[in-house]
Amino acid sequence: MPDSLLRVLTCGSVDDGKSTLIGRLLFECGTIPDDVMTVLERDSRRFGTVEGGVDYALLVDGLAAEREQGVTIDVAYRYFETPRRRFILADTPGHEQYTRNMVTGASLSELAVLLVDARKGLLDQTRRHAAIVSLIGIRQVVLAVNKMDLVGFDQTVFDTIAHDFAALQDRLGPLVVTAIPVCARDGDNVTAASTRMPWYTGGTLLAALEAAEPAIDATGRGFRMPVQLVARPDHTFRGYAGTIVGGVVRPGDAVVNAVSRTKAQVARIVTMDGDLEQAGPGTPVTLVLDREIDVSRGDVIAAEPAPELAEELAAWVVWMDDTPLFRGRAYTLMLGTRSVSATVTDIVNRLHMETLATEPVRELHLNEIGQVALSLSHPVAAETYATSRALGGFILVDRQTRNTVGAGLVTELRSGGRADIYWHHLDVDKAARATLNHQKPVVLWFTGLSGAGKSTIANLVEKRLHAQGRHTMTLDGDNVRHGLNRDLGFTEADRVENIRRVAEVSKLFVEAGTIVLVSFISPYRAERMLARECVEADEFIEIYVDTPVDECRRRDPKGLYQRADAGQIRNFTGIDAPYEPPEAPEIHLPTLEAPAEVLAERIFADLRRRGIVA
Ligand code: ADX
Repeated sequence: MPDSLLRVLTCGSVDDGKSTLIGRLLFECGTIPDDVMTVLERDSRRFGTVEGGVDYALLVDGLAAEREQGVTIDVAYRYFETPRRRFILADTPGHEQYTRNMVTGASLSELAVLLVDARKGLLDQTRRHAAIVSLIGIRQVVLAVNKMDLVGFDQTVFDTIAHDFAALQDRLGPLVVTAIPVCARDGDNVTAASTRMPWYTGGTLLAALEAAEPAIDATGRGFRMPVQLVARPDHTFRGYAGTIVGGVVRPGDAVVNAVSRTKAQVARIVTMDGDLEQAGPGTPVTLVLDREIDVSRGDVIAAEPAPELAEELAAWVVWMDDTPLFRGRAYTLMLGTRSVSATVTDIVNRLHMETLATEPVRELHLNEIGQVALSLSHPVAAETYATSRALGGFILVDRQTRNTVGAGLVTELRSGGRADIYWHHLDVDKAARATLNHQKPVVLWFTGLSGAGKSTIANLVEKRLHAQGRHTMTLDGDNVRHGLNRDLGFTEADRVENIRRVAEVSKLFVEAGTIVLVSFISPYRAERMLARECVEADEFIEIYVDTPVDECRRRDPKGLYQRADAGQIRNFTGIDAPYEPPEAPEIHLPTLEAPAEVLAERIFADLRRRGIVA
């Protein structure tokens, strides 16, 4: 049994012949059982695209189709072996999913096969995959130039592609690249040398895989285990369950909780099959410590020196959502077993896909790769991706849809900003100010289309509050945009920042003991959620001023709809920019039902119920 194992990532699309190549490799290495082969031969006659031969793509695509019917498996692993080595091929269904999984499963690979269609040469997709491969730390690449038969086995075509790829290498970092001309359909240079390209003197694809460097033994690094679960079946047992992501642990080892920085010794390593004397990477275990220390899910138990605690991260991010990544927007960041809220504080650059040079940008779009800075709601025990793939890789999840929208690689950890800027304790606090004002501070957050009536209703409410002797403040979109937010326009990125600032300002007013009336379109749920989280749960009242766009257009108090319809104003909410209505506002005001005075009274009644006004 060969004992060296190589993990191989395959990149390329079905069009490039990826399925055929993988099918061919599996077949020629004898991985395909006879009965499957019989079916394959039959199917090839019926559906195959190969004249008179076996269509190996049907094998792989058949499996893929089956997979897609079940629960989505993001990465398919295929095993095969030769007398010299065992292989695990990580195959990702399409290029979209490919990016989604690079940080999780596929990132463990040690070599990548980048497939190129000889007729097409290097595409943006090839360059993107090469950039990701390099970022995730794969240093060995086989550039398989496929479909050589369709370019007449022309050496110049192959040389040009190999040369173009070599030209990218300055940008990609230290990659070892082997370029091989193949015809996957007929098996040229897959496992057997081609007789049709005498000009090529190098080895086959399989030879390159067999010759690749195996994994560096990770056991030299310190022990790390993100805690998945605190197991407490009864009062006599307390253990911390998780999968070891680095190093080796033995009973008696000194460990530290990287989050609370408390120390202990490992007493037992418990598994389903009994206690272990030693456990290494990839092993799921339950650790019992020799004393009670504070450990919760998401913490990391580690050998010293333990991973750092970061409140800010610099990272490469691959963006995978149709909605771009914006500065100021918050996402759920999942790293190890920890989930925290992360706000994008900076977008530094993105990789230009032609040249792989970086260029400054303000947003990251679908499939773009760029460097960003993130500020975390809670400190996270992390490492750079170069040090630890498990504690340096993360995903970003949309807080509403729960979709994975980005994958990231930590390049720098900073406790920086907030650790150096101390939160100054003030003796006169929110409660003291509120008491002096004889009121309970709240945010009344009015959202709705331009011309929906937000400011009109807010104005009526404030007048009544004022008449009752309440301390109030109104923040109105049009007005704030003349001052604090003068630098912002109406792109999505600017609106995100607009609302982020206003949310922070409304928080300050709540601290001041004031009733704040905020009247902004605030079209995105994500930012309204952010505003809500700035204050206590009972201090935020979302008021949806619900006026259909046709009615707003009819009223058109500022003549803006007319101009937007005429194409004179771009990104106008409700016309060519979105409005995401609140799903569960505290107060819903359908303005077609009643005049503004009645609606203001409804708000007042609600405030009375909450004990905010008499
Ligand atoms: S928000 O979307 O970022 O919350 P905000 O409430 O600050 O918008 O500002 C909206 C006001 O700006 C509108 O009431 C309107 O008077 C004006 N305005 C100018 N251009 C636009 C536009 N493209 N879309 C929406 N409002 C606009």
